[in-house]
Order: sequence, then C-alpha cells, then structure tokens
Amino acid sequence: MTTVPERGRARRWRRRASTLALAAACGIAARAGSDGGTPLPIGPRAYGDRPTVETMAGLGARIFMDASLSASGRQSCASCHDPAHAFAPPNALPVQLGGVDLRHPGVRNAPSLMYLQTTIPFTEHYIDDEDGHGDDAGPTGGLTWDGRVDSPHEQALIPLFAPHEMANRDARALAARVRKAAYADEFRAAFSAPGRNVLDDPEQTVRWLAMALEIYQQTPAVFYPFTSKFDAVLRHQASYTPQEARGLALFDDPNRGNCATCHPSAIRSDGGFPLFTDAGHVDIGVPRNPAIAANRDPRYHDLGLCGPLRTDLAHDDELCGAFKAPSLRNVALRGSYFHNGAMHSLKDVLEFYVDRDLHPERWYARRADGAVQRYDDLPERLRGHVNREVPFEPLPGDQPRLTAAEIDDVIAFLHTLTDGYGPVPAVQPTTSR
Ligand code: HEC
Ligand code: HEC
Repeated sequence: MTTVPERGRARRWRRRASTLALAAACGIAARAGSDGGTPLPIGPRAYGDRPTVETMAGLGARIFMDASLSASGRQSCASCHDPAHAFAPPNALPVQLGGVDLRHPGVRNAPSLMYLQTTIPFTEHYIDDEDGHGDDAGPTGGLTWDGRVDSPHEQALIPLFAPHEMANRDARALAARVRKAAYADEFRAAFSAPGRNVLDDPEQTVRWLAMALEIYQQTPAVFYPFTSKFDAVLRHQASYTPQEARGLALFDDPNRGNCATCHPSAIRSDGGFPLFTDAGHVDIGVPRNPAIAANRDPRYHDLGLCGPLRTDLAHDDELCGAFKAPSLRNVALRGSYFHNGAMHSLKDVLEFYVDRDLHPERWYARRADGAVQRYDDLPERLRGHVNREVPFEPLPGDQPRLTAAEIDDVIAFLHTLTDGYGPVPAVQPTTSR
C-alpha cells in the first residue's frame, strides 16, 4: 500500500517585491531612479551624491566582470558565476580554484546567482500562515548553502577577501585596485560627496563596490528573466512534449518524485511564478566528495547549518548536515550538483534520490572492515537526522519511487527550466515565491 507522505516541510514564504529587498539592503527608498534621473535619497552614508539605480547597476556589471579586482588579476565574480552558464561555473569542477596563484581550492560548489532576489534573510523557524497552516517549516532562507549571509552586498565581501577566492588582503588593497580600474572615473563620480574623492577612503570604496554588485544582481532581465519553456507554458505560449508533461506530473506527485515539496512548481496565489525552491534547509545525506581537498582530513565535515563556515548554530545537532535547497531553474546547465559537487549529471542526482536507501553501497564509502557507511559525510552520531521522506523512502516491496524511464521523464521536464526559450517578457511575472 502506498502512503501519502506528510507535507511536513512545505515551507513557503511570503511575497517580497525585489525593490523592497533591495531598498532594505541599501537603506534607501524603494522608488528611485526609474527615469534614470531620480536621485536615491541618501541613507546612512558618508559619501556619495545620489547615484541612480541605473548608474549603480551599470557599474555593478563592470565590477562583476572585472578580474583586475582579484589578487591573481585573473579572477572575477564571473569566473565562478558565469553569465553564459546562468551565473554558475562554466566547468564541472566540484569546487572552483582561486587565490593569488589560482591554485587554492574552495570547499563548496559555486551556486547559480539567478532567482535569488526574493530570498528572505535566514530564520530558524519559518512560519507560513498562508500555506503552512501556521506550522513551523524550520530553517529557511539566507544566502550561501548555509544561509549565513543576509544580503548580496554582505555576500560580495566574502569572495573579494577570501584567500582561496579573489584574495584581496584588505580594504586598502582592494581600493587600490579600484583606483586603477577602467571605470574608476565613473565610480568616483557616482559615489563621491561634493569636494571629496570616495577612492581616497578604502572602507567607503568597498562599501559602494558591494552595493553596486548588489544592485546589478537585482537586474530583472538578467537575473530573473522567466524566459524558460516552463514559463512559456505558464503563459500559454508553448506546450510540453508528452515526456515533459509526464516528468512534471512525477515531479509534483507526492507519492512519486515529491520534488515540489521542497522545489515548489506551482503559481503562487498572488500570481508569482514559482522559483523551484522554498529555500528550506534540509539534510539529504549527500555523499562525501573525496575530490574536495579539505575532505582529505577525516575529521573535517562540512555540516551546513551547524558549521564550520557558519558558527551560530553549532550547538544544535538536529541542524547538522542541512543545506539550502537551491532553485532548479537552469539546473540543466550545471556541470556539478549539490553543495559539495559530488555528482555530475542529473541522472545521478535523480537516481540518488530514489536509490539512496535501497542501495547505499552504491553511494557511500565503506569502512576498513567493509561495512557501508550510510550518510558518510556526517560524523556517525549525526546520521539519524537525514531526511527519509518520499522520494528517499522506497515504494512498498522495496521498489524505487521512480523507474529508469520515469527518471528520464523528470529530467526532460527539468530541461524546460532553462532560460532563453522565449524573449524576456515586457511585463515581469511577480517575482514572489
Ligand atoms: C572562486 C569562486 C567564486 C568567486 C570568484 C565568487 N564566488 Fe560567489 N560563490 C562561490 C561559492 C563556492 C559560493 C557558495 C558559498 C557558501 O555556501 O559558503 C558562492 C555563493 C555566492 C552567493 C550566494 C548564492 C546563494 O545561492 O545563496 C552570491 C550572491 C555570490 N556568491 C556572489 C558573488 C559575487 C558578487 C562575487 C564577486 C565579488 C563572487 N560571488 C565571487 C564561489 C565564488
Ligand atoms: C525534502 C526536500 C527535498 C526534496 C523532496 C527534493 N529535494 Fe532536491 N534538493 C533539496 C536540498 C536540500 C538540496 C541541496 C542538498 C545539498 O546540496 O546538500 C537539493 C538539491 C537538488 C539538486 C541539485 C541542484 C544544484 O544546483 O546543485 C537537484 C537537481 C534536485 N535537488 C532535484 C530534485 C528533484 C528532481 C526532486 C524530486 C525527485 C527533489 N530534488 C526532491 C531538497 C529536496
């Protein structure tokens, strides 16, 4: 008999217009700059004479692509978040290399930067009154795989200074690079107070640089265009092949794929197009990836919410191993999957979902005595918290929730989530989730 799974993790969040998120992050008023000339009211800032949103986004785009801002001189944000690959890496490496010599490996897979504009700041207890009947949907939101960053301008500071990424020694070193950048004059003109030069003040230079990056990342046509075949079908401008339609049905079916529980696929009640993530943090037991250099130390474990990159929740064992569910939009463009890049094809990912607990020996390493270590990227005492809902839970009779042919169907559907099928719409669908 088939049991209907609880939709216990139907984590949803309320709509937040991107302009509001942007304004909150910048401490500026939401309505600004739409005519190209309206000044932004000045928030808590010491320098700068009212740059418009357009000026900031334009500078942000150039900063994003500028490899001269790194210590190696060869790495920009776009090196790891390539615009031609949905702002994800252009290669299949599990982690990217960076640092002064471009030989320092990272510890996590670089995510796509698209469809993040409505990500709420991290909360440990997300209550959704609209869809969740007031239930606590658990840890939700935030940027990075562990949600430890609240805004794109704070996020930018991590790679700009991380020794294994762009590796600037400090604000002074970065400001010196901005002074030599091709857009230095525009930067100075946009962000200097009358009679002052922002480039003389490293702290303010870094602050405005990060803000410009944030505003750029809010550009609708670039970062949330909604131009996939999936969107065209929602607009009644295209229809699925029979295989894609079967794939969507399996994706949604709570007894089969059950994917939509964590990667919602339905139009929101306010008309917002779905983002294919509820940004909930879940432990799905992704296998340890021996290709990550840090994992050569058997004592090292990337436990997501409970550290080591994030430090405030380390006390809570229940949260260990939980990572943020990413959006599945443009997922077919990726070369490596999951927070540690342990898998390299959608077929492997799908097979993992339905076969993990049926054939653990296929996914996990063995101990010296030959025993398979289920959930081998977690210390043994934490292995009990891994999610075991559908599709991990097999069908009665130990059958996987999806057959090989059905996996192909779901993959065909996932390919409809790649942007660029249709033109950027004149009117954006609401960008809530
Ligand atoms: C060397 C590769 C690399 C470079 C360069 C890089 N990033 Fe990232 N980026 C990553 C990785 C890896 C993560 C995930 C980090 C984590 O989970 O701790 C990430 C995460 C992010 C996120 C959060 C995405 C999410 O899904 O929550 C944003 C936003 C971001 N980067 C923006 C930038 C910006 C802006 C720059 C340039 C200033 C940049 N990155 C440069 C590798 C890189
Ligand atoms: C219980 C919640 C949950 C369910 C159900 C679920 N996912 Fe996920 N999904 C996640 C989380 C969490 C991650 C990130 C895990 C990690 O990296 O540790 C993820 C990651 C992925 C990724 C990798 C994306 C990337 O950018 O690396 C794909 C692809 C994916 N899921 C597809 C699916 C499909 C297809 C289904 C249904 C068969 C499904 N998921 C069901 C929570 C879920």
